[in-house]
Amino acid sequence: MFKKFVSYYKPYKKLFFLDMLFAIVAVLCDLFYPMMTRKLVNDSIPNKNLRMITIFAGALLVIYIVKVACTYFMQYWGHVVGVRMQADMRRDLFKHLQKLPCDYFDNNKTGDIMSKMINDLMDVSELAHHGPEDLFISIVMIIGSFLILITINTPLTLIVFAFVPFVFIFAFVKRNKMKRAFMETRVKTGDINASLQNSISGIRVSKAFVSHNHELKKFQIGNRNFKVARERAYKAMAEYHSGLGFCTDLLDYVVLIVGGYFTYQGKINIGDFMAYILYVKMFTQPIKKLINFVEQYQNGMTGFKRYMEILSEETEKDKEDPMAFNNVKGKIDFKDVSFKYEDKDILSNLNIEIQAGKTLALVGPSGGGKTTLCNLIPRFYDVDSGDILIDNKSIYDISLEDLRSSIGLVQQEVFLFTGTIKENILYGNQKASDEDIITAAKRANIHEFIMSMSKGYDTFIGERGIKLSGGQKQRISIARVFLKNPPILILDEATSALDNTTEYMIQKSLEELCKGRTTIVVAHRLSTIKNADKILVLTDNGVEESGSHEELLTLNGIYSNLYNAQFINNVVS
Ligand SMILES: Nc1ncnc2c1ncn2[C@@H]1O[C@H](COP(=O)(O)OP(=O)(O)OP(=O)(O)O)[C@@H](O)[C@H]1O
Ligand SMILES: [Mg+2]
Repeated sequence: MFKKFVSYYKPYKKLFFLDMLFAIVAVLCDLFYPMMTRKLVNDSIPNKNLRMITIFAGALLVIYIVKVACTYFMQYWGHVVGVRMQADMRRDLFKHLQKLPCDYFDNNKTGDIMSKMINDLMDVSELAHHGPEDLFISIVMIIGSFLILITINTPLTLIVFAFVPFVFIFAFVKRNKMKRAFMETRVKTGDINASLQNSISGIRVSKAFVSHNHELKKFQIGNRNFKVARERAYKAMAEYHSGLGFCTDLLDYVVLIVGGYFTYQGKINIGDFMAYILYVKMFTQPIKKLINFVEQYQNGMTGFKRYMEILSEETEKDKEDPMAFNNVKGKIDFKDVSFKYEDKDILSNLNIEIQAGKTLALVGPSGGGKTTLCNLIPRFYDVDSGDILIDNKSIYDISLEDLRSSIGLVQQEVFLFTGTIKENILYGNQKASDEDIITAAKRANIHEFIMSMSKGYDTFIGERGIKLSGGQKQRISIARVFLKNPPILILDEATSALDNTTEYMIQKSLEELCKGRTTIVVAHRLSTIKNADKILVLTDNGVEESGSHEELLTLNGIYSNLYNAQFINNVVS
């Protein structure tokens, strides 16, 4: 894992090393000031060496200019390295995510995946550039000042440094406590977000059931938990900061009292004493930085681990050297197909044959497995046993891209992307011209509606197409498939009832769409069913009846019951 982490530095190697170099130079700059003070007080001032004082003044100015350049570089380019690495990781993650199979998304929460993409990678990027920087700076600073101080006066240095480990331990323990408390508030914030999102998306339901008080109550639970957690975190924060402040005061105290005593005894001179005071003043910085590093390391590595977890999820696999798949005629065969979700059997030993260019209708009770069957053909899910053939080639022997390119899918629940109508139709074929788009929309009977909007094809349709009616969304999804123009068509009709005119329009566009293609249609509408070449009745027990409309009616079984019930309903309405 560490190796993988380091590999992300590779493209920015030069920048990264420059950043480290500048970090070290910046620390060295800081170490100069006390040394010069010492020299001034001990030597130049008593000896009235004005030349030396001027040289020091000039040198210090130069040092500060160097430092400002270094700090600027670190702040700017250091962060740039971090953010570029973050963007690279996010790109890799997104690429991988797009290739994960559907069942990954069935079993993982969108919010979780998003927080991995955003928050975790933010932590990783913080570690990537601040981590090495902080580690370097603090180590150089502590070791550097230790070496300088020990050459001035060994006993005083040892006494002062004897306290340092205690400061570290205190800071570490308290910091950990504070961190845990803040983690807790993060979880609580997540809860609030989740509850808020749920309440907002369900606003129509809560209005309809006049349940705003209930919603408020639910929300207040999370809100109160957040408040309590946050208060606890602030307590821990107060302990950490005040305690650490006390520790550094103690260090100052020791230097002042012990150093003062040593100076009084004449063991060290005034200049050395001043240098001590100045060095110790600088000390809190590297201690804080080191502690900070430990935390960053924990967060960053946890984030990276979660990141690697997704990256190691298995993606959809293509066969090594897939068979060529073109000029698709569209003959489809299900051979002994069995499929289950986790351990729930949905289809078992299913055999279906559809000749090229023919239409097969699937009817049956809700939950019988119709949508599932449709999802097996474009390999959204893989069969557990058996095989599916298209033009006598197993769909597992051809590439996913070829397979999916030859299938047009109108799903039961239409999904439109946030954007314009045009962008959504273009999903059928990104290379299509405006003319093609209009033709497709016309064939889907949606052109006139689109033209009635003030911005026409550039109309923004809101999140998931919320500004459109159910029927309009469906027709746009049909236009998409017209544009794609695939030899095989899978129509999973929406179960929601539409008014007669809309239903008629959709029916017309679907009929037009089916022409010359092999079609599998999950049918809820009488007209669709009647036009099919063959009808399968799919129930929990598998295919119970199959044949043409007339054949099935004479059977007087499930189908004829279903048909009669619908027919009577239709006549009544
Ligand atoms: N992603 C999934 N994970 C686990 N179980 C699922 C999943 N999708 C569907 N199911 C289950 O599989 C069964 C078949 O569902 P499917 O969606 O295929 O039914 P359907 O015949 O299309 O029903 P409808 O006519 O209501 O659309 C159902 O019992 C359902 O609960
Ligand atoms: Mg369904």
